[in-house]
Amino acid sequence: MRTVAIIGTGFVADLYAASLRTFPDIQVVACYDKDAERLQRFCAHWQLPAVDSIDAVLTGPATLVLNLTNPHAHFEVSRQLLEAGKHVYSEKPLSMRMEDAVVLHALAKARGLQIASAPCSLLSEAAQTLRLAVEQGRIGVPKLVYAELDDDYISQAPLTKWKSESGTPWPIEDELVVGCTLEHAGYYLTWLMAMFGPVRTTVSASAGLADVSGLTSAETAPDYSSATLFFESGVVARLTCSILAPHDHRIRVIGDRGVASVTESWDNRAAVKVRTRHVIRRRMINSPIARKVPSPAFTRHPAVKRRGAASMNFMLGPAEMLDAIAAGREARQAGDFALHLTEVSLAIQSAGENTGAQHMTTRFTPSPVTHWAGQRTSVQES
Ligand SMILES: NC(=O)c1ccc[n+]([C@@H]2O[C@H](COP(=O)([O-])OP(=O)(O)OC[C@H]3O[C@@H](n4cnc5c(N)ncnc54)[C@H](O)[C@@H]3O)[C@@H](O)[C@H]2O)c1
Repeated sequence: MRTVAIIGTGFVADLYAASLRTFPDIQVVACYDKDAERLQRFCAHWQLPAVDSIDAVLTGPATLVLNLTNPHAHFEVSRQLLEAGKHVYSEKPLSMRMEDAVVLHALAKARGLQIASAPCSLLSEAAQTLRLAVEQGRIGVPKLVYAELDDDYISQAPLTKWKSESGTPWPIEDELVVGCTLEHAGYYLTWLMAMFGPVRTTVSASAGLADVSGLTSAETAPDYSSATLFFESGVVARLTCSILAPHDHRIRVIGDRGVASVTESWDNRAAVKVRTRHVIRRRMINSPIARKVPSPAFTRHPAVKRRGAASMNFMLGPAEMLDAIAAGREARQAGDFALHLTEVSLAIQSAGENTGAQHMTTRFTPSPVTHWAGQRTSVQES
């Protein structure tokens, strides 16, 4: 039996708990939250064991600890876990400041431990099939990507009515203070990093546009950002995040022979479609028929039968990490990958109006396409 502990039993913890049901070989040995009432409610609902101090997690038997606390608490909680000898799977971002992420990355390395950052949708059937389609040359040479992470005019949604399955309210203020870029950019940035490697430079802009009652613009983070990402491999991607424009989670990878697309980053099993480009006499046309790319069997993984964000299997990342720890290899989202994801996300979020080009200081070595269970597989096996 593989063992994990959970710190932070708020809104997102329910999505992990629902996902855990698809991994019966992973046992939760302890849950802790500084809010005792939330802890009790969560543990009663999911029938999971509660402990009354973080020390009980630090000294407990869990191989891997899921840090599901609020972003401003990530650094301190992860630091304590690493110092206690625990591997850490952190919700995004790794930390709110790059210098803290560097400390965590170095601490893990020095202790022979791993720290990874969510999101894990890059391990999904959709992300891996898209990557395979690109690597197999179905669109020719990839040149440009348009990726959208727009979530509609969130500040006008009935946010106070949003509750998790066990009854925790959606953390409105925290989400607005942390901002949609740090909350969401990773849902495609990870896919792009897995496909095209490290980002060399970002040219980004971000702004706070919506009026949010009760919070000043100095307190809230940008609710819009747009980044042009220059990958070392030569591909250029435009990544947009907002909580104003109507819901749009498309990604389109444009190659010199066609376009591969997915319409929903949060749907682990979203179809990957390819339209090829043809010249017929004097006209150039993009094929009116989008061909669905078959998903190889090894990309399939346990599904959580829900809708929206809740349809993602939040345990794919921790499960792959447990496999990696057991096999003595680095997890797909750990180490340099997590640090680079954090650096690029923070750069986009903080860009504002006048920052211009930001040259990334971190790099990582891309891994091959991943079997959801963590076995090393290669493109040839498809
Ligand atoms: N809300 C979402 O829809 C959503 C979706 C995906 C990922 N996330 C990510 O999940 C993380 C948590 O978000 P959430 O929505 O669950 O927030 P939340 O406020 O609902 O829950 C966070 C919990 O962490 C606890 N906590 C904070 N500091 C702690 C500490 N030092 N020790 C113990 N417990 C502590 C809080 O008491 C709270 O119960 C964030 O990183 C967020 O980006 C959230």
